[in-house]
Order: sequence, then C-alpha cells, then structure tokens
Amino acid sequence: MLSYVYKDKGHFALEEKPRPVITDSKDAIVKITLASICTSDLHIKHGYVPRAVKGITVGHEAVGVVEEVGAEVTDIKVGDRVAINVETFCGECFFCKRGYVNNCTDKNGGWALGCRIDGVQAEYVKVPFANTGLTKIPDNVSDEEALFVGDILSTGYWATDISGVQKGDTALIIGAGPTGLCTLICAALRSPERLIVCEKDERRRELAKKVCPAAETVSPEQVESYIKESCPRGGADVVFEVAGAENTFGLAWKCARPNATVVVVAMYDKPQILPLPDMYGKNLTFKTGGVDGCKCDEILSLIAHGRIDTTPLITHTFAFKDIEKAYDLFENRRDGVVKVAIKI
Ligand SMILES: NC(=O)c1ccc[n+]([C@@H]2O[C@H](COP(=O)([O-])OP(=O)(O)OC[C@H]3O[C@@H](n4cnc5c(N)ncnc54)[C@H](O)[C@@H]3O)[C@@H](O)[C@H]2O)c1
Ligand SMILES: [Zn+2]
Ligand SMILES: [Zn+2]
Repeated sequence: MLSYVYKDKGHFALEEKPRPVITDSKDAIVKITLASICTSDLHIKHGYVPRAVKGITVGHEAVGVVEEVGAEVTDIKVGDRVAINVETFCGECFFCKRGYVNNCTDKNGGWALGCRIDGVQAEYVKVPFANTGLTKIPDNVSDEEALFVGDILSTGYWATDISGVQKGDTALIIGAGPTGLCTLICAALRSPERLIVCEKDERRRELAKKVCPAAETVSPEQVESYIKESCPRGGADVVFEVAGAENTFGLAWKCARPNATVVVVAMYDKPQILPLPDMYGKNLTFKTGGVDGCKCDEILSLIAHGRIDTTPLITHTFAFKDIEKAYDLFENRRDGVVKVAIKI
C-alpha cells in the first residue's frame, strides 16, 4: 500500500509498504478515506521531534472505515466510519483514569501515531487501543466535517475545558491558525460575553469572523491598547495563547486581567521567560500541556447537532498521489491555505 514516510531530517517520501495486520487483540485496521496535514508533521520533517522514528508513516489526522478488529475491540465494528484520535491510550493507567490520556504510560500511549508508530497518511493504518482511539462518526456527519475531531478540534475543546471560560467573560485568543480557530469555535460554545481574536494575517482574521461572526478581531500591534481601552477589568478574563511566535507568550500574560487564567496551547521552538517580578500582584493562573483527546464522542455529537462546523478551514483538497504538492503548499503557507484535505 502507498504510505508517506519520514525518511530523514527534511525528507518525507511516498513509498510502498506492506498492509498492516492485527498483532494485538485491541488493534483495529482502518482504511483511510480522508487525511490532513498538521503543523506537527512539519515539526517531524524538520527534526524538532526527537521521539519521531525514521521510517514511520507520518500523519495523525484522518477519518476512515474499519476494515478489521481484534478480539477485544468491542466499541466499534467492521464497516463503521470512524474519526481517528491523535492519541492512543490504554484507558487503565493512573493518568488515563483521570482523563490525562496524553500522559498514558503505555509504550503506545499518548501521541504515537505518525510519530513512533505508523500513522495515517497511508491507505491503511493499524490503531492500537481501538476502543479508545477510534470514535464512530454519526451518519449525518461527513468525512470533511469529522476530519479535525481527533486532533486540532480536540485541542480547542480541551483548551476551552481547562480554561473555565464562562458566560460574562471576555476571552482573548492569540493566533488564528487552524488550532486557534478550533479554540475560537469551541470557546464560543460556552457563550462568553466577548471573544477577541488577535492574529497578524488579515485573511486569517477574516476567517475568524467567518467561523464566529460575533468575534472581534485585532492585529498584534494593536491588541494591547485595544484590550486596555475596552476591558474595564484591566484585561481579558481568559487568554488562550495559540500562536507560539516570538513575543506571543509575553502578549498573553500582559493582556490578562488580574486573577485571569492563561492557557498556553502553543508549542515553542525555544524556552520562554516567565518574568515573575513584572507580573507580581497579577495573581495569574497558567495552564499548559498537550491535548487530552478523550472527548471525541461529545465533539462529534456537537457536529451532528450543527453546533460545530470546521469545514471552512479546509481551503484545499488533493489526491493522495499529490501529497507532496499538499505539503509544499501547507508548509509555505501559499494561496491562503489553512488546512488541506487529502483524499485517499
Ligand atoms: N497543546 C497541544 O496539544 C497542541 C495541539 C495542536 C497545536 N498546538 C500548537 O498550537 C500552535 C498553533 O498551531 P496551528 O496549527 O494553528 O499553527 P499555525 O502556525 O498555523 O498558527 C499560528 C498562528 O499565529 C499567528 N501569529 C504569528 N505571530 C503572531 C502574533 N505575534 N500575534 C498574533 N498571531 C500571530 C500566525 O499568523 C498563525 O495564523 C502551534 O504552536 C502548535 O504547535 C498545540
Ligand atoms: Zn496534530
Ligand atoms: Zn493509559
């Protein structure tokens, strides 16, 4: 079968691999129908993910149809259309029992797909712990609508959950890339009074308005004065840092009001500085981490009921044989690309 493989730093290639087979009773084999490319795939390509294993098939965002299941897979069956979770997790260890599935202690736990084990940019994938790693897609939800459920939409949902954002709040989201937009969509479900999006790219600011018409948008140059003038409590009640740029961590805490929560979704190339003397007396709470992607069923139900729609994020569609062109476009942010869909 055709697979897109991490060969070496800076080099992925489309090549033939044998079709995966079930080796554990909790495995399932899924025939991929639609996949996407994530910023994390680019991090692997450029050698920023030390755990990534050369020779693995990349990709961890996809939907497909269950082809085969092991004897202990009871929650899904052959023929089910499923969303694939970025995280595979045992469901039984200390962390899994508390919902912290990103920290599952199994050797295949956490983000393994397309990093340490063969991923989804292929015709077929083997998913360990299929009972928790796959979620059945409701009949009225299309592949395109379900494409981001297991990864960036789970991230937005998790970030909103841990933020505690609620009615009456002003929430600031820094960065309107795919993950920031998913965070915006999920935060809107909690009906805060105001949603402010700070993004440097004008087209992405426009897209933020499209996916959430009530959102206010502002450029990074203007955000501090905008917040100072328009937030009577001295800043936003909740800040989501989803940009991961040079100065955005600093921007995040500066735009927060005293006693606010700052959720750091972004991953950085370099260590960040927490200038405690400068923020003394602001009494901020910082929350950080990798997504705990264990609420895919809730997210799919919200999609089925028309409460979440991430299809405007799909700006381009490619055939699998053209995946290199898709990477080139996504990586170089050409032609207003936000997310690509790859038909397999
Ligand atoms: N915690 C997790 O589990 C998790 C999951 C997914 C993504 N992430 C991280 O979230 C971040 C965003 O991911 P993405 O896929 O949306 O990537 P992205 O690079 O497409 O998005 C970043 C956005 O921030 C904007 N930006 C850059 N500098 C800015 C500034 N100074 N002010 C405002 N906006 C600015 C960019 O124009 C871009 O739209 C990345 O750091 C990614 O690694 C974390
Ligand atoms: Zn991802
Ligand atoms: Zn576990």
